[in-house]
Amino acid sequence: MPAALYPAHLDTLLARTAEALARGGFDHLVVPSGTLHYQAFDDRDYPYAVNPQFKAWLPVTKAPGSWLVATPGQRPKLVFLQPHDYWHVVPEAPGGYWAGHFDIVVVRDAADAARHLPADPSRCAILGEAQSALGDYVPNNPPAVIAYLEYHRAFKTPYEVAMMREASRIGVRAHRAAERAFRAGASEFGIHLAYCQAAGQDANDLPYGNIVCLNEHAAVLHYTDRDRVPPKAARSFLIDAGASFGGYACDITRTYSADRGDEFQAMIDAVDAAQLKMCDAVRDGADYRQIHLDAHLALAVILRDAGILRITADDAVARGVSSAFFPHGIGHGIGLQVHDVAGFAASDAGGTIAKPEGHPYLRLTRTLAPGMAVTIEPGIYFIDMLLDELKAKGLGDTVDWDRVAAFKPYGGIRIEDDVVCTDGAPINLTREAFSAT
Ligand code: GLY
Ligand code: MN
Ligand code: MN
Repeated sequence: MPAALYPAHLDTLLARTAEALARGGFDHLVVPSGTLHYQAFDDRDYPYAVNPQFKAWLPVTKAPGSWLVATPGQRPKLVFLQPHDYWHVVPEAPGGYWAGHFDIVVVRDAADAARHLPADPSRCAILGEAQSALGDYVPNNPPAVIAYLEYHRAFKTPYEVAMMREASRIGVRAHRAAERAFRAGASEFGIHLAYCQAAGQDANDLPYGNIVCLNEHAAVLHYTDRDRVPPKAARSFLIDAGASFGGYACDITRTYSADRGDEFQAMIDAVDAAQLKMCDAVRDGADYRQIHLDAHLALAVILRDAGILRITADDAVARGVSSAFFPHGIGHGIGLQVHDVAGFAASDAGGTIAKPEGHPYLRLTRTLAPGMAVTIEPGIYFIDMLLDELKAKGLGDTVDWDRVAAFKPYGGIRIEDDVVCTDGAPINLTREAFSAT
């Protein structure tokens, strides 16, 4: 249960904050929840997105205009905006397992929050976007403070793992509904609605826009159009869709063949088996860059076995041919943000760990350690632009184009799980949730 784990989570945040403030030379951490943004020349607001630095502290994702104050040695304080307003839903009064750990002040007007913030703004590390400024309380985002907090945010507390487990449970329930809709002949739009219905979440809640692809659309990595009409023949289905729980994300991809006995399904099964091995490599001390590079080889073996490559898997990796079929990174950190921060952080004081040469889309280069949560999302795609580039580079004879033509109508495959590194075997939150339903 996340609730029982929350006090220890808060202690961890308070300890991290004390060190971060010491490094930056500040006395207080001050975090605005953020404000509404409006469309240009319009009075329509964009969906509100809470400041991740705020939701790190408490599972409150819909309270714009609120502020959090953490001062070492004191109880944290929440200045909570609960306006008098009959146009919008007013945030509920603070409550729940977390509320008793804060000194809470309710304000009715956004400007009143300033009276409850530390007296001297110059002693505050204020983390937020410029638009959150309130009088003299202007976000200064000190690099030393942010570098420390974001580096350590990669290491999830047991509370955070429990929150991500809940998000995974919701996501998997919705993935099951989406598969049923696909098998029943729904359009991409219909599948999307079935997903949202089962998750109980829509664009305002989901951690990213659903990627729902039938047939060739699976070759567009972030395909977010949704055809309203089903194709004449639905051969394949790739869905990359997540869910949120208390501000935490899951990020899950599955691929299905309409015909469970065809060679596309066989390739899905091969990617699935390889993906499980990659997940097992999420271990203390493992270099995530190496997991990415090893994935290229494993996927090249599958391409070779399918008759698509006319060269060895090793050659395909060495000559960059595997990148035409697997053109993204093996994954990224995940937690409060679907693409979690500090993926390249060399230390909690700053610095960057470079991506391997020739792999510009890898989002995480750190060495794994217990508590880190990452996605593992290998894929094989048939993307005209990249296949044309192969030919243009003089590598056309490394590929059997008849075999490519046979697979192209299916678009591509991606299998994505969320995996937590421990000091022993990894925890696969996604597989755990699929096994439970
Ligand atoms: N859903 C986007 C990604 O997998 O990174
Ligand atoms: Mn992902
Ligand atoms: Mn994804």
